[in-house]
Amino acid sequence: MELGLSGKAVIVTGGANNIGRGIALGFAAEGARVLIADIDEERGQRVVAEAGGETAAHRTDVSSWESTQAMAARAVELFGRVDVLVNCAGGTIDRLFLEKAREEWEREVAINLWGFINCTRAVLEGMVEQRSGAVVSISSEAGRMGEWREAVYSGTKAGIIAMSKSLAREVGSKGVRFNVVCPGFIPGQRDAGGDFGEGSMWSGKQGDQFPDEMLEKIAKSYPLRRLGRPEDIAPAVLFLASDAASYITGQTLSVSGGYTMM
Ligand SMILES: NC(=O)c1ccc[n+]([C@@H]2O[C@H](COP(=O)([O-])OP(=O)(O)OC[C@H]3O[C@@H](n4cnc5c(N)ncnc54)[C@H](O)[C@@H]3O)[C@@H](O)[C@H]2O)c1
Repeated sequence: MELGLSGKAVIVTGGANNIGRGIALGFAAEGARVLIADIDEERGQRVVAEAGGETAAHRTDVSSWESTQAMAARAVELFGRVDVLVNCAGGTIDRLFLEKAREEWEREVAINLWGFINCTRAVLEGMVEQRSGAVVSISSEAGRMGEWREAVYSGTKAGIIAMSKSLAREVGSKGVRFNVVCPGFIPGQRDAGGDFGEGSMWSGKQGDQFPDEMLEKIAKSYPLRRLGRPEDIAPAVLFLASDAASYITGQTLSVSGGYTMM
């Protein structure tokens, strides 16, 4: 299937690591022009080198309105427009609600919810003016079903689904589409030096909670009997961002080996 993504101007937040990196590389392989908007610019530059083509990295903190405005301005400066926004930056540290520190909740809300709002607001006016655009956001299966030890995270991810549906209704007539992809468990990826990356939720507390034996056990509970990889998520995102999905908006797609079937 021809996706027609060649030459499209794409922003991928959180594109320096794991799922976002896989998505950024996927768009670049289709000939899209990609801005990796990540708080970890050094790792973003590594993905730029890997992707080649018209790819750039811009240090962005999605929880900051000023920073996301600068992100959008940089994309317009580089590419003249923004055709696609992928809201991928996000994360959690799994812990029981009663044991979790308020700062951890605030961080989840700031990155997952405010990140979606800031980045979307920063690009949406331009998309409406050009009467075309696609926003694909990475939620989580946790946002569909509620997940043990991820209470606030699940709430933020459900928020992304609800906001995407609302916006799909608001701007569908202006040619802008909103869709959501929900991954299941996708362990963080270590680089050649064995690091997850400073901005990654997997470095330290989160990564340490999942030794290999536990990952194997979780994988066995999935209908497809394996955990996901970033390259499992990217094709779904590319499709929803493409003109091939021009009649699809307000939808939520699980890409999780059958973990949930909602
Ligand atoms: N990995 C999973 O199991 C899983 C499952 C379901 C959903 N998700 C969602 O997928 C997305 C990516 O997950 P991942 O495993 O690739 O995470 P990750 O922690 O490996 O990567 C996240 C990236 O976001 C960047 N980042 C962190 N804070 C930022 C900020 N304030 N502004 C801009 N960039 C920031 C990090 O530097 C990192 O490059 C997240 O939204 C996560 O909630 C992940």
